[in-house]
Amino acid sequence: MREMFITVEGIDGSGKSTQARILKDNIEKTGLKVLLTREPGGSSIGGIIRKALLTKKMDSLTEFLLFASDRNEHIESIILPSIHNGTVVISDRFTDSSLAYQGYGRGVEIKFINSVHNTITKGLSPDISFLIDISPQISIERMKVMQLDRIEQEGMEFLKRVRKGYLEIARKESRFVVIDGLKSVDSIANQMFATYLARRKQWIKEKS
Ligand code: ADP
Ligand code: TYD
Repeated sequence: MREMFITVEGIDGSGKSTQARILKDNIEKTGLKVLLTREPGGSSIGGIIRKALLTKKMDSLTEFLLFASDRNEHIESIILPSIHNGTVVISDRFTDSSLAYQGYGRGVEIKFINSVHNTITKGLSPDISFLIDISPQISIERMKVMQLDRIEQEGMEFLKRVRKGYLEIARKESRFVVIDGLKSVDSIANQMFATYLARRKQWIKEKS
């Protein structure tokens, strides 16, 4: 039996990386092996693609195809081997990031994005997707102290479209749990771990 695949999504500065790390620690304490990975850049070729994506100006379709290449390599070389080897995988961003950023944010055709994802995921879909929701205002506020990459520099209107996209995707998909990202780090971490435990119970029941 394969292990669970969990994704953490949200606009920049929502607290994904902070929460993904805590969730990893909490799941490890239950005795399971956990791999924390991320997109873009989770695989070795992905590191090279990540650098191009975050520094070079490019057409929106090129941007999506590079994220998709990074994702394909990530799925093939990291995610699938790990979950089939008994390791829970938590990915900081996955397919929903491309739907929200390249689809809703940049206007790349959603049907095309879905079709590419259908091919590269080979039926793999996250068992739980956490959407940590914050407003674009909070995102910009939190990122003021950080060095911003090319996509993070897009600004308010872009982030509004991306957030709206995320919320629409989350409404349609039962794997999603939307979390209020304004709550404290501890309270979000507790909510995510409790959700994981409840969904895991259900997941084990369905698999057996
Ligand atoms: P992301 O990976 O989504 O970009 P990070 O986890 O790197 O987000 O967090 C972005 C910034 O927001 C960091 O400075 C972090 O300390 C802060 N932060 C994270 N979670 C919270 C929270 N719940 N409340 C307030 N600030 C937070
Ligand atoms: P990352 O460095 O992981 O930023 P963060 O810490 O905010 O998650 O991601 C870099 C940027 O790449 C981020 O602004 C979101 C963007 N991105 C897309 O536009 N599409 C995608 O498919 C992915 C995975 C990321």
